[in-house]
Amino acid sequence: MNSVKVGLLGLGTVGGGVINLLSRNGDEISRRAGREIEVVHAAARHLDRPRTCSTEGIKLTSDPFEVVDDPEIEIIVELIGGVDKARDLTLRALDNGKHVVTANKALIAQHGNEVFAHARDAGVTVAFEAAVAGGIPIIKAIREGLVGNRIEWLAGIINGTANFILSEMYYEGREFAEVLAEAQRLGYAEADPTFDVEGVDPAHKLTILASIAFGIPLQYDKVHVEGIGHVSREDVEYAQELGYRIKHLGIARRNENGIGLRVHPTLLPERQLLANVDGVMNAVMVKGDALGPTLYYGPGAGAEPTASAVVADLVDVVREFSLEPENRVPYLAFHSHALGDDPILPMDEVDTAYYLRLMASDQPGVLADVTRIVGDCGISIEAIIQKQPAPGAEEVPVILLTHRVKEWQMNQACERIQALDSVKGHLTRFRVENLE
Ligand code: HSE
Repeated sequence: MNSVKVGLLGLGTVGGGVINLLSRNGDEISRRAGREIEVVHAAARHLDRPRTCSTEGIKLTSDPFEVVDDPEIEIIVELIGGVDKARDLTLRALDNGKHVVTANKALIAQHGNEVFAHARDAGVTVAFEAAVAGGIPIIKAIREGLVGNRIEWLAGIINGTANFILSEMYYEGREFAEVLAEAQRLGYAEADPTFDVEGVDPAHKLTILASIAFGIPLQYDKVHVEGIGHVSREDVEYAQELGYRIKHLGIARRNENGIGLRVHPTLLPERQLLANVDGVMNAVMVKGDALGPTLYYGPGAGAEPTASAVVADLVDVVREFSLEPENRVPYLAFHSHALGDDPILPMDEVDTAYYLRLMASDQPGVLADVTRIVGDCGISIEAIIQKQPAPGAEEVPVILLTHRVKEWQMNQACERIQALDSVKGHLTRFRVENLE
């Protein structure tokens, strides 16, 4: 049988990984797919750059539209990243009747609903396993393996750069800015590292995971996003004293009123497996009503880990060639006509526990004022610690852990605490999740 002809957009780290993997494991991949998979046409921005792979036998161009318009190509692999050009290329490939495999989380999170509509009209498929958590087959696990479950929540460390920074702050006591510079040097960070540290990249990934878990349209603009730039070494240390680690989590949780979608620094009990995912590794915990909690762990970036997910998608697409479109696994796990309209909760209505840190004058009655305000706002305190003042300092750090409350209650309490004359500087707060 003829080989399946693939067009590759992007010959960078991941593109090179895909070519190497198809070459090294080609025999086993063909035996699994039922046909040989061959990259025959590839586009790269700079044709004269040194490559990590051999491009022998591959027609090269600097114009990616030439690849998506090539009549010989059956599947386009989109690895150029970014949004606008990737969207134009993807839609043109689909409209040309080609299947698309993409690692582009921003494209799927922001334009996935439109991309899937074009794919449906053209009777082709779009696969995007590599868009979330690199090589971990988390989309396949939720979309296929957990299909009998009602998913209650999922929580993930889905940005390796942020996790590397927080791990270094925890283990080595290093400062945020210094570790970020190292992450950039090591090539973990996105081209624009603010996507990593300000939570945009994990918000893209959470959008995709939540749609697949709950059967809702992609709604990136409704994700509450906070980065890790305000996590200080002090907070990492205080959290540790209380038995917690600070992790940058993407959390999607369903309750009777809707679905909360949020990305923010989160205190996790150190006994939680997820709290012990270190360095650039990713992990996603999913709670299904039948299976209970499960954890998926592995490399969330890198040439061959990401290529592993791209090649898995290629094999899936080839295996589904002969299926009628309506018999294929639906893009978002639920059939498009059966997607739900569960509301996304405004952040005020999301409930979570809290860590608060404030600097207070070392004088009688301050703690009583703080605890009275917290109590008036209907918030129950789980722990409160007043630290020794630093030598010569007039203020003392006070740390509170609370039980779960609605965000609006905590907003009210923080506003009133911040207004106390005895409270100096800015109140720090982080959310706390036990994931139990
Ligand atoms: N910059 C991303 C990360 C790469 O650090 O996880 C994979 O999306």
